[in-house]
Amino acid sequence: MPALHVIGCGRAGRAIARRLIATGRVRPGLVINRTLESAADAVAFIGGGEPATASDERLAGGWLMLGLPDGVLASKIHSLSQRLPVRPALAFHLSGALPADVLSPLEVPVASVHPVRAFADPRFAVEHFERTWCVAEGEREALDCLQPVFEAAGARWLSFASTHKGAWHAATVAASNFLVTTQALARELAVLAGLPEAQAAEVLSDLQQGTLESVRASDPVRALTGPIERSDFTACRRVVDALDRLPAQQRQLFGALALATLDLAVVKRGARETDADLRKLLRDLAGRPTND
Ligand SMILES: NC(=O)c1ccc[n+]([C@@H]2O[C@H](COP(=O)([O-])OP(=O)(O)OC[C@H]3O[C@@H](n4cnc5c(N)ncnc54)[C@H](OP(=O)(O)O)[C@@H]3O)[C@@H](O)[C@H]2O)c1
Repeated sequence: MPALHVIGCGRAGRAIARRLIATGRVRPGLVINRTLESAADAVAFIGGGEPATASDERLAGGWLMLGLPDGVLASKIHSLSQRLPVRPALAFHLSGALPADVLSPLEVPVASVHPVRAFADPRFAVEHFERTWCVAEGEREALDCLQPVFEAAGARWLSFASTHKGAWHAATVAASNFLVTTQALARELAVLAGLPEAQAAEVLSDLQQGTLESVRASDPVRALTGPIERSDFTACRRVVDALDRLPAQQRQLFGALALATLDLAVVKRGARETDADLRKLLRDLAGRPTND
């Protein structure tokens, strides 16, 4: 059974390592972070392995997972490769932004396996990893080893060599990070309306969940409802007035999102007479010149 070594065992690295090792198809290996203390913390989370440095000869023949931040991975892979005294059997990284061949200086079969989920809380991510899409590309020799282990860990494997990996990464940022941003904005408004935060969190999360189900069942255009979709200028005016107590940056964010929503609404129901006034109202809110 190969050892799973990890260089860069942060939020994503430790969660993935724990799930892969739990399959019983790889065994805990060396864990290398910037400090041995941090590596020891990751080892405790994984429940096995050993804190080490990149000059450790026991890396030979194991599987090497790189969970380094993207910028570090891209800039340090050459120097890291020179520091390694031995070669692993294969290497893969977890980045959604970088291609597998960024690892080619290691001169072993390489792959990129991007788990499409947020790892903000590694413990939560481990518990909810089942059915997580893992988007993979790279060399066949590495992929053939990794796929059965990821699938045994609960992943849904998707072979996809993106033609523009930056665009793929941007897609995941839009879907995941912006959902968090809109939830934060909505919660702030609900609290302004007088709803206790815990209750606001529950109600608004359920609302977003329901909207996601509706988008999944149809598409973003058909799933759209609300005062902008209805071109209800009076209701929109009231919404805009209610934003008065928000900081300017939040009002502009709301305005930018509302304008994008209006564009979707026009695709859905065609242009309406009130749309011109509505667009002006929303452009003012977004802080954009009318003739922009
Ligand atoms: N977070 C997510 O939601 C998510 C989702 C999918 C994919 N990913 C991908 O996973 C990768 C890691 O992201 P992350 O969010 O897990 O990052 P992270 O939590 O910041 O962890 C990065 C780890 O790399 C270590 N590190 C940094 N520089 C190092 C160096 N020079 N030598 C050795 N170790 C070093 C850090 O060590 P210290 O602890 O000692 O600082 C830390 O443990 C990225 O490629 C990211 O795109 C992340």
